[in-house]
Amino acid sequence: MKKINQCQRIPILFLLCFTVLAPLLFVSTRLKNFTPGRKEFVEDLSTFKYRTDTVKLRAIEQEAGEDLKGPKLFVYERNNLDSVVSNSSSNRRNDSKHSENNKDRSHAARQSKSTGYVFHPLHSNGTSHERKEENKYIQPERVSSMSDDKRQYNQSRSRHNLNLRTPTHRAIDVKVKEMKDQLIRAKAYLSSAPPGSNSHLVRELRVRIRELERAMGGVMWDKDLSRSALQKMKSMEVSLSKAGHVFPHCSSMATKLRAMTYNAEEQVRAQKNQTTFLIKLAARTTPKALHCLSMQLTAQFFALPPEERQFPNQQKLHDADLHHYAVFSDNVLACAVVVNSTVSSAKDAEKIVFHVVTDSLNFPAISMWFLLNRPGKATIHIQSIDNFDWLAAKYNSTLRRQNSHDPRYASSLNHLRFYLPEIFPLLNKIVFFDHDVVVQKDLTGLWSLNMKGKVNGAVETCLENEASFRQMDLLINFSDPYVTKRFDAKACTWAFGMNLFDLKEWRRRNLTALYHKYLQVGYKKPLWKAGSLPLGWATFYNHTVTLDRSWHRLGLGYELGIRQDSIDQAAVLHYDGVMKPWLDIGIARYKSYWTKHVNYDHPYLQQCNVHG
Ligand SMILES: *[C@@H]1O[C@H](CO)[C@@H](O)[C@H](O)[C@H]1NC(C)=O
Ligand SMILES: *[C@@H]1O[C@H](CO)[C@@H](O)[C@H](O)[C@H]1NC(C)=O
Ligand SMILES: *[C@@H]1O[C@H](CO)[C@@H](O)[C@H](O)[C@H]1NC(C)=O
Ligand SMILES: *[C@@H]1O[C@H](CO)[C@@H](O)[C@H](O)[C@H]1NC(C)=O
Ligand SMILES: *[C@@H]1O[C@H](CO)[C@@H](O)[C@H](O)[C@H]1NC(C)=O
Ligand SMILES: *[C@@H]1O[C@H](CO)[C@@H](O)[C@H](O)[C@H]1NC(C)=O
Ligand SMILES: *[C@@H]1O[C@H](CO)[C@@H](O)[C@H](O)[C@H]1NC(C)=O
Ligand SMILES: *[C@@H]1O[C@H](CO)[C@@H](O)[C@H](O)[C@H]1NC(C)=O
Ligand SMILES: *[C@@H]1O[C@H](CO)[C@@H](O)[C@H](O)[C@H]1NC(C)=O
Repeated sequence: MKKINQCQRIPILFLLCFTVLAPLLFVSTRLKNFTPGRKEFVEDLSTFKYRTDTVKLRAIEQEAGEDLKGPKLFVYERNNLDSVVSNSSSNRRNDSKHSENNKDRSHAARQSKSTGYVFHPLHSNGTSHERKEENKYIQPERVSSMSDDKRQYNQSRSRHNLNLRTPTHRAIDVKVKEMKDQLIRAKAYLSSAPPGSNSHLVRELRVRIRELERAMGGVMWDKDLSRSALQKMKSMEVSLSKAGHVFPHCSSMATKLRAMTYNAEEQVRAQKNQTTFLIKLAARTTPKALHCLSMQLTAQFFALPPEERQFPNQQKLHDADLHHYAVFSDNVLACAVVVNSTVSSAKDAEKIVFHVVTDSLNFPAISMWFLLNRPGKATIHIQSIDNFDWLAAKYNSTLRRQNSHDPRYASSLNHLRFYLPEIFPLLNKIVFFDHDVVVQKDLTGLWSLNMKGKVNGAVETCLENEASFRQMDLLINFSDPYVTKRFDAKACTWAFGMNLFDLKEWRRRNLTALYHKYLQVGYKKPLWKAGSLPLGWATFYNHTVTLDRSWHRLGLGYELGIRQDSIDQAAVLHYDGVMKPWLDIGIARYKSYWTKHVNYDHPYLQQCNVHG
């Protein structure tokens, strides 16, 4: 009996993964065993999340000159689903691929393990790539490892012609898509439901999942669905809405996961023909290990009773006499390193208050991390951007834009920096970090710098003989009179990454309103390139004071030949660029400055195979 279940489960999961997940899964994962039960769900989820961060991580990057276009992050309506299904589903595969033996597969698995990603070579001349054009670009390696069940595969294949579709064609198999969507949601609930809570509902969901999977039985087209499958779908919907009431936070999480899954698909479709996309995508794809970590922490967080989810010293959060630091991120490890390095380099950690802002999806994991790894004597404060109601109101009026595929409209965490005075209404000054920095020295000196009435303290990036050199017209369109009237293209530019902001002066000069104004103008004319940097240059134009360059060393994410003394002298190292220290493509010579702040012996990191 169990065996039969399993047989059915494999093709179903295979189909699910293929249509929903396949596009991004060329970043391969290891072969998975399908063991029933909770663990499997967690793994499934981590796969989803794994992919979503591609989008998210890109969003919070603000690297100059990145012209990668991306989709808008939005939660789609249920009836959008049909348009999502593309015919490019599983059956484009050639049998020969499937009969490849295990040796090949484990080779692929090894490869993916060592690099973190499998690039399916664009210029490979192997037979397995001589397929329809669309397949050439992204080969979901995972698929071949999951397609063991030839019997099932054969069955669905024989019904539909191979290799005849083009990427522009979409199937309209609403029901199938919706069922898959239900399964995703149900599993999301299961994975984040606190253990022992409402076991009746949990059991019910499990049963529904099993039923629905069985009823679908590998069907890919609506016309093949049996009537009982439709019945099962209805019951599932009932259970799901029950679950939505019982676990409200899970509901929003599930919605997000779905949106992101959709989002990633959109992205792949839009970018399929750009080879550079693959490289950029890899650079922004967080290793699976990080997602495992995030899921573990999330599960642990929801297992805690609410009173144990609190941090101490919350009275310090608004004390303007202390030293306040902020980092906005969705990456647990990155946050951990920023906080750990700041605190462990500080002479007087008691004066430090760290404000971490993330999104609701990552809030539990990041909270749990800092509950388990308290930052010494420093105070920590974790917030979710989704709780900033005032922000939602602002974003509604300013950031809504139709037909935009520009990530900057999607990446609220990225643009949140322009609202610092409103996020921290009682503070006078704050040091704002990007999440790809490491602090090496005590920063007390920053707090007594004379800012000369300016709002933003930053290091300059206008020295021509340096790799960080950037001119205003790189990211701002100087052919428009609106721009030329206001700015000098030769004006000195500066970097985000470590900025000292005088919030009082900021409020006095109403710079957030100015930012809004520039943003609005940007909707009408193409003035600013994507990212927060051009808008930052415009908003803080005439309001920036230069920090000594030893405060902030840029370039560790792209510049290979940084002089050692320059690194040693820097108070803050910034891994701007695509080669982040938490990725395998990170530049080896610079990694140790970052990895030394990660405790790789931590049981969670061990379990998730996070290594330095
Ligand atoms: C699959 O590939 C093999 C060679 O690898 C080729 O001989 C065969 O015709 C292909 N089958 C289909 C259906 O394309
Ligand atoms: C595939 O399907 C064909 C016809 O439907 C059948 O003859 C063949 O045995 C099947 N192959 C496998 C591996 O199940
Ligand atoms: C999808 O594939 C099926 C089976 O090959 C075909 O009948 C249908 O027309 C295709 N849909 C689109 C939009 O290409
Ligand atoms: C590739 O993408 C660009 C824009 O992303 C588009 O203009 C172009 O037509 C695409 N080329 C092909 C062959 O699809
Ligand atoms: C923002 O807009 C969305 C849809 O456009 C609407 O549902 C939501 O209520 C709005 N929120 C606020 C705070 O105005
Ligand atoms: C720059 O602005 C001008 C005038 O608004 C516009 O015609 C032009 O297309 C813009 N250039 C770019 C690269 O967006
Ligand atoms: C910046 O300052 C200069 C000199 O005071 C002034 O002429 C210019 O208008 C200012 N630019 C902006 C954008 O405020
Ligand atoms: C700041 O700008 C907003 C919107 O333009 C305006 O309502 C407000 O009065 C301004 N505040 C100050 C102090 O100038
Ligand atoms: C920082 O990380 C190191 C190494 O993992 C650890 O020993 C130390 O306790 C941490 N310090 C703080 C303040 O978190």
